[in-house]
Amino acid sequence: MYKIPAKTLFTGQKLIYVPECHSTNSSLAELLDRTDLPEGTVLITDHQTHGRGQRGNTWLSGQGENLTFSILLRPKFLEVRDQFRLSMAVALGIAEGLAVFVPSGLAVKWPNDILIEGKKVCGILIENQSQGTQLSVSIVGIGINVNQREQPVPTAGSLVQWVGSTLDLDAVFQQLVIAIEARYLQLRTGGHAVIQGDYHRQLYRIGVPQSFEADGVAFDGVIVGVDELGRLKVQVGEEKRRYGLKEVKFSRE
Ligand code: BTN
Repeated sequence: MYKIPAKTLFTGQKLIYVPECHSTNSSLAELLDRTDLPEGTVLITDHQTHGRGQRGNTWLSGQGENLTFSILLRPKFLEVRDQFRLSMAVALGIAEGLAVFVPSGLAVKWPNDILIEGKKVCGILIENQSQGTQLSVSIVGIGINVNQREQPVPTAGSLVQWVGSTLDLDAVFQQLVIAIEARYLQLRTGGHAVIQGDYHRQLYRIGVPQSFEADGVAFDGVIVGVDELGRLKVQVGEEKRRYGLKEVKFSRE
């Protein structure tokens, strides 16, 4: 069972547990339409029947084995065009929370997957609402493979593979909310440059040759960074290219 975090200011201080739902992102958004919820509200479940991933994908997660939850944030201090800053802060926070259990081999794969030794253990789906030029609400959905030993795809991994024994889901949840809140507060208090630097230090395959695919065309390049809009910067021969979220994918994964 999940406990209200003892070490956060607001994240998870309102904690809604449901044994099952379609998607924690959708359930939290629906609840927010009906009631006022404080920043930091977490909705967590043991089982999603229609877990959603990026690019319209499905997020599959074994019942009761993993973490699937969503956090309500109100990043009014961020302009819509700067929304990738939140994505970087959340990804770093998650990587840091997971490092308590698996101290090495963690990386952030653009835009915001968390990998351990190249295997995806966490997916993040952030859904934003805006008012004028500013963000108003962000629903930060997080799926982490924790105790699931069999993976549906060979590119996925689960914390238990590195830890060796079953983890306590609440213990992992506690570390995650502490670390995410710390990075979010850093962002809120003007720490964007530090976050951007740390994100690049953790970025998977930065500076090394990598195969990609864009518009059905395969090519080789080297990731040189991520720009202010969250686009991946890739050096392809003499050419510097920038790709948005749905415009490129890594090949051989
Ligand atoms: C991805 O890597 O494609 C993102 C996956 C995000 C999955 C989480 S699980 C909790 C939350 N609710 C959802 O429906 N999706 C996110």
